[in-house]
Amino acid sequence: HTNQSWGGRFSEPTDEFVAAFTASISFDQRLYHHDIRGSIAHATMLAKVGVLSEQERATIVEGLEEIEAQIERGEVEWSVALEDIHMNVEARLTDRIGAVGKKLHTGRSRNDQIATDIRLYLRDEIDFIDTELSRLRHGMIELAAKEADTIMPGFTHLQAAQPVSFGHHLLAWQEMIARDQERLADCRKRVNVLPLGAAALAGTTYPIDRHYVAELLGFERPSENSLDSVSDRDFAIEFTAFASILAMHLSRMSEELVLWTSSQFDFIDLPDRFCTGSSIMPQKKNPDVPELVRGKTGRVYGHLTSLLTLMKSQPLAYNKDNQEDKEPLFDTIDTIKGCLRAFADMVPAIEPKRDNMLEAARRGYSTATDLADYLVRKGVAFRDAHEVVGKSVAYGIEQRKDLSELSLETLRRFSTVIEADVFEVLTLEGSVAARNHIGGTAPDQVRAAAQRAREALAGR
Ligand code: ARG
Repeated sequence: HTNQSWGGRFSEPTDEFVAAFTASISFDQRLYHHDIRGSIAHATMLAKVGVLSEQERATIVEGLEEIEAQIERGEVEWSVALEDIHMNVEARLTDRIGAVGKKLHTGRSRNDQIATDIRLYLRDEIDFIDTELSRLRHGMIELAAKEADTIMPGFTHLQAAQPVSFGHHLLAWQEMIARDQERLADCRKRVNVLPLGAAALAGTTYPIDRHYVAELLGFERPSENSLDSVSDRDFAIEFTAFASILAMHLSRMSEELVLWTSSQFDFIDLPDRFCTGSSIMPQKKNPDVPELVRGKTGRVYGHLTSLLTLMKSQPLAYNKDNQEDKEPLFDTIDTIKGCLRAFADMVPAIEPKRDNMLEAARRGYSTATDLADYLVRKGVAFRDAHEVVGKSVAYGIEQRKDLSELSLETLRRFSTVIEADVFEVLTLEGSVAARNHIGGTAPDQVRAAAQRAREALAGR
């Protein structure tokens, strides 16, 4: 049958396939709460400016609240013939409260309604994601403070490079997440603008009060331009860009967790509750959670590409194309929330294997730069020092010995400026402690950085 809400000018019913093809109720039903909140604010405003009577407003609001309760009790069966969440709710309202329900849509279009719904919904999700980001940062900071003195190899090219504090490594993660959280807060500013009042595209002839609606819904301000309001989806793209960068960061951390739990690295243990076994290999304990987080990065990037492409070349103002914004956005939100929950739960549970990390740092000639710096302090030019140390390392590899295990006599064969005090710089502890400046890996610096991070997090 022809859709009741707009069927007036139609002479034949919508093709059944077309009705199903154009309907969005299967996925936009998740907007019901925000759709109803927006409608209540709209009706309240219409009564304030005299378009609805106080009695009409009260009847509409009561009806909408009852429908929300029915939805939450699972009593509502969505109708594909009614296309979307907006017309499903409105039709139910009219069924329930009669003719006055038909007045709700006065001065409004589904175009500004959907733009409002998504922003309201996304704003709530942003606020939840923000608390999850804080929880994750907290876990990283506290583990870092605890592991400030734990030494591991720092890597470049995934080759052991210089020893670092494990806490320093964790605080590097924390910096990434802190920037993601800033990006999210910045995105929220542009989400938090009210499109309602733009109507279909040009505004409305009713004496609406958009500032009042903005206030009722907690928006910063009404949008400036009606054409832009109904067609802008860049806020969703921006959120998905935030999510993509976050996913990229989580994938890097995941990759490290996967490497570190492998028997080749064996730097950490993840509690059994974050891992699964193999149906054939009894010895296996697989890091499924970080692997899945790493894998889910792909779909988030895909959604960003979808949304960018969706909006490419769209003429003003609203086009039905925009209905395709929802599934990528919703799945981005769901995916990011899942990954964040996994990480925020998992990070505090990381069990470092400190001896293995230390041993790996020792094996990797990771104090070679310290030896070069030592030679420079004794008057050797850095490039010459580099050469001397390179030869010492080659000799150590041949002898299967770390630099600190070579005798003074042996070391002096490579440079006569080397004296007994060289062994102070060849120890891992000395190497790490010597990088004692802001941003450096000295354990004292790591503790101070963790404290600053705590304060920054608490001061948000
Ligand atoms: N379901 C639509 C969407 O998601 C709502 C707006 C529809 N407006 C229209 N004129 N067909 O974009």
